[in-house]
Amino acid sequence: MAGRVEGKIALITGAAQGLGEAIARMLAREGARVVLTDINIDKAKRVAADIGADRAVALAHDVTSEAAWIDTIAKGVAAFGGLHVLVNNAGISAGTTVTETSFEDWKKVHEVDLDSVFLGCKYAIPEMAKTVKATGLGGSIVNISSIAGIIAGHNSAAYNSAKAGVRHLSKSVALHCAKQKTGIRSNSVHPVFIKTPILDNIVQRFGEEEGYAKLGRQIPLGHIGEPDDIAYAVLYLASDESKMVTGAEIKVDGGISAM
Ligand SMILES: NC(=O)c1ccc[n+]([C@@H]2O[C@H](COP(=O)([O-])OP(=O)(O)OC[C@H]3O[C@@H](n4cnc5c(N)ncnc54)[C@H](O)[C@@H]3O)[C@@H](O)[C@H]2O)c1
Repeated sequence: MAGRVEGKIALITGAAQGLGEAIARMLAREGARVVLTDINIDKAKRVAADIGADRAVALAHDVTSEAAWIDTIAKGVAAFGGLHVLVNNAGISAGTTVTETSFEDWKKVHEVDLDSVFLGCKYAIPEMAKTVKATGLGGSIVNISSIAGIIAGHNSAAYNSAKAGVRHLSKSVALHCAKQKTGIRSNSVHPVFIKTPILDNIVQRFGEEEGYAKLGRQIPLGHIGEPDDIAYAVLYLASDESKMVTGAEIKVDGGISAM
């Protein structure tokens, strides 16, 4: 049986671990060839090798660098002969209030979490449009924002700002791509707490069981999520099942934003 993204080529940033790794594995399982990029190239290479050399490659890539984006898109396109799907996933968290946050940290969070998404869209769209035209398969940009891009917290000034920026930028990109008839859609995904190394601080402070339980108590469903909860949402958006969905925000949040 054909996979849900059979024949597509996808590039996933921050794919060495956590959500990016789960997304890369899921898209590959469903028939895509995947380009995994990360600053942690050794770990990204191990994941790519595990997926299989015929389906996956790993590239060293700092998403904050414009030159690195130009180079990575060129290498990514060359790897499998095109690009249909871009998943802007790489990101860092930051848990400080507006008065505690240094200007340096503010800029760093926006560089990694928001500027990267702008650069990725800017340099991937022309290549994706060519591949979509040549193959007849739909193009899709999936930007991993956060539920923190919709609901603010007193101690997440920079993260709230950057992730809200990702949400709105995704809509602007969606309208541009639609107007230009590129065949590319753009959407954002908004996870609540998910079990990945991004939660290491909490785990170190409270231990894994109590740390995860503490976060889970804030969520109506009563527990935090698994990486595949997000990978399934990305799979839907990457596939042509979602061909009418653009400029949308998919919340995978256990109900927290319904309160
Ligand atoms: N896990 C959660 O609870 C959660 C919730 C909401 C949103 N998110 C978002 O999901 C995305 C993935 O998070 P995760 O939980 O997998 O985190 P993670 O820390 O486990 O993984 C992030 C990956 O991004 C890479 N990375 C960091 N800076 C980079 C850079 N400058 N260039 C390239 N790669 C870089 C890291 O090396 C790492 O492999 C992030 O954008 C994060 O903000 C996560």
